[in-house]
Amino acid sequence: MGAKAGVGALGVVLLAVLIFVAVSSWSRQPAVARPSVQPIDFPHVVHVQTYKIDCQYCHSDARRSEYAGLPSVERCMGCHKITGAQLPEIKKLAEYFARKEPIPWVRVNKLPEFTYFPHKAHVRASVKCQTCHGEVEKMTTFAAAPGPRLANDLLNLAGFRPAPPPLTMGWCVDCHREQNAREDKKAPLDCVACHH
Ligand code: HEC
Ligand code: HEC
Ligand code: HEC
Ligand code: HEC
Ligand code: HEC
Repeated sequence: MGAKAGVGALGVVLLAVLIFVAVSSWSRQPAVARPSVQPIDFPHVVHVQTYKIDCQYCHSDARRSEYAGLPSVERCMGCHKITGAQLPEIKKLAEYFARKEPIPWVRVNKLPEFTYFPHKAHVRASVKCQTCHGEVEKMTTFAAAPGPRLANDLLNLAGFRPAPPPLTMGWCVDCHREQNAREDKKAPLDCVACHH
């Protein structure tokens, strides 16, 4: 009797742990920006593909800091005082400029506060933006589904080894291992490099 009750209790504890893991991974799902969510429907494809503007012309902090950064309204207006001034989305842009307000872009890629990700190190090691962010030059609206996913967590629990989704710890560590094995690179694997 005693042993059976023990097994039953263990089952309940295991179930509780599973539910906890499932719920916590759901609550960690970051928001994904949808077309209507951005204050201005900014098309990467037009700027990068059609007009050949370099990623780092707009995201100019990437090579020198932790952040990639977003361009100021002034930088946009450098072209759009004239270019497309009659278009509705450009009129919205001009209104922010006139009010001297920054555009409240919705952040898509976001790691938890307790992690450290420096763009600088990756740009200097010649990792292309697209390796991590996908084919941004083809996007009419930037979208991504970064971070942990329930399906992935459950597959892992069941003993399968699916490729980790972008912006999870497994994704960072997998690439660091690969880089260190193949090339003359020293991408860190110690906890404090990414958590401090
Ligand atoms: C003309 C300026 C401009 C150029 C050129 C540009 N971007 Fe952007 N980018 C933006 C703006 C504005 C946003 C914010 C609005 C949005 O998400 O669409 C953005 C958003 C992003 C985001 C999402 C940021 C977040 O919230 O997580 C990524 C990633 C990104 N750009 C990468 C790139 C890459 C890679 C290239 C080159 C292939 C590029 N961008 C070229 C202006 C630009
Ligand atoms: C180097 C010049 C340049 C810069 C800088 C630039 N753009 Fe553009 N943008 C263009 C050109 C050229 C077009 C195409 C205009 C057309 O179709 O008439 C365009 C098109 C657009 C469109 C599409 C308009 C439509 O409805 O078809 C939007 C929205 C836009 N830009 C927003 C922005 C924002 C926001 C920024 C700053 C983050 C920015 N642009 C920075 C050159 C630029
Ligand atoms: C090794 C993978 C990787 C590469 C390469 C990379 N990024 Fe990122 N990017 C990330 C991660 C991870 C985040 C989220 C960082 C955070 O929340 O602290 C991010 C966030 C961003 C953001 C939004 C926040 C910010 O930093 O301003 C923009 C914009 C961006 N990246 C643009 C770029 C551009 C442009 C390039 C190429 C010059 C690039 N990224 C290269 C992984 C990468
Ligand atoms: C190359 C970078 C990197 C290294 C090295 C790394 N981590 Fe992480 N870690 C991350 C990122 C990014 C996240 C946030 C994304 C996520 O939750 O998967 C994270 C999340 C975590 C979490 C929270 C897990 C969760 O599910 O929310 C813990 C705990 C953690 N790391 C511990 C460690 C320990 C212990 C080590 C050393 C053995 C380590 N990390 C090494 C990048 C790293
Ligand atoms: C596509 C491959 C790739 C991915 C994905 C990647 N990294 Fe890296 N990482 C590199 C390379 C390459 C280096 C530089 C190695 C060198 O300089 O020898 C590096 C270096 C670093 C460094 C060391 C910085 C320094 O100043 O020495 C940190 C910290 C780091 N990465 C964190 C992260 C985190 C956190 C993530 C996930 C959010 C991540 N990386 C995802 C390839 C990657």
